[in-house]
Amino acid sequence: MTILTENFTLNNGIKIPKVGFGTWEIPNGAPAYNSTKWALKAGYRHIDTALVYENEKSIGEAIKDSGIARSEIFLTTKQPAQNKSYDQALKDFDQSIKNLGVDYVDLYLIHAPWPWDLAGQRFNQENLAVWQALSEIYQSGCAKAIGVSNFDVEDLQNLLENSSVRPAVNQIMYYIGFTEPKISKFCQENDILVEAYSPLATGLMLNNPTVKEIAAKYQVTSAQLALRFVLEKGALPLPRSTQEKHIIDNAKLDFELTSTDLELLSELKDTAPKHYHNETQG
Ligand SMILES: NC(=O)c1ccc[n+]([C@@H]2O[C@H](COP(=O)([O-])OP(=O)(O)OC[C@H]3O[C@@H](n4cnc5c(N)ncnc54)[C@H](OP(=O)(O)O)[C@@H]3O)[C@@H](O)[C@H]2O)c1
Repeated sequence: MTILTENFTLNNGIKIPKVGFGTWEIPNGAPAYNSTKWALKAGYRHIDTALVYENEKSIGEAIKDSGIARSEIFLTTKQPAQNKSYDQALKDFDQSIKNLGVDYVDLYLIHAPWPWDLAGQRFNQENLAVWQALSEIYQSGCAKAIGVSNFDVEDLQNLLENSSVRPAVNQIMYYIGFTEPKISKFCQENDILVEAYSPLATGLMLNNPTVKEIAAKYQVTSAQLALRFVLEKGALPLPRSTQEKHIIDNAKLDFELTSTDLELLSELKDTAPKHYHNETQG
């Protein structure tokens, strides 16, 4: 049993593998196909993509060619943040299903509560309309679970107070020193699983001296320490890599942090202060 065969259970009872493979910025074609192929070969059974990553086609092909049963793979994609209407959300889902060559996804997320160029503004009514579309997709069985990404507490409350379908997941930026405490706490209290995106701060936290020092003590890499940290905080890491060696190494997470080290890491200031941050999250 490795971490790759362990699951969290979502608030609707669906099981989700504890480590997912991230695919943002991996171009469609050979890069996305090979990275997904290596991840599946290494034992990952959870792949995270999005319509706007424009790589769903190659990811779908790699899944099909792997010979692994579709039911063994947990597949997430996301509804574009730019499209804030019910009708367009249904069309977006159809496009993703077509690109991926599947007849259902395991998790479908609203990519962000606002179009990226209007980050921080409120789109409460529009998000409810999009959420209605996702709820219908969920009820049809074409998505086994639905959730959101980049939502803050007010955005989440809007859905919880105005819809009978609860989000199962909130995917947010989360790495050592940047754990969005208010949002994380609210999610925990409301049984919404936090998925940690950019768990390595897109690579920018790997040379942090304190992280390196603690990683050396456990004889692991900075990346492994960062991913183990996320898991021990109860969140689900989504590491991304295009190198087979990194893909394999990032799944070797079967060690435990002492409570003292977990506390120390939890109290660290941002380990990648130059990384782009979404200022609307807190
Ligand atoms: N919902 C959202 O709005 C959102 C936003 C951002 C990301 N995400 C999701 O979260 C995933 C991960 O976030 P991310 O793409 O920002 O990246 P990340 O996983 O934080 O970091 C990836 C970077 O770290 C490097 N890396 C990975 N493993 C390594 C290792 N063992 N040693 C050294 N370097 C290593 C990779 O380079 P190599 O390729 O050379 O290994 C790459 O440059 C995304 O792919 C996406 O699925 C979601």
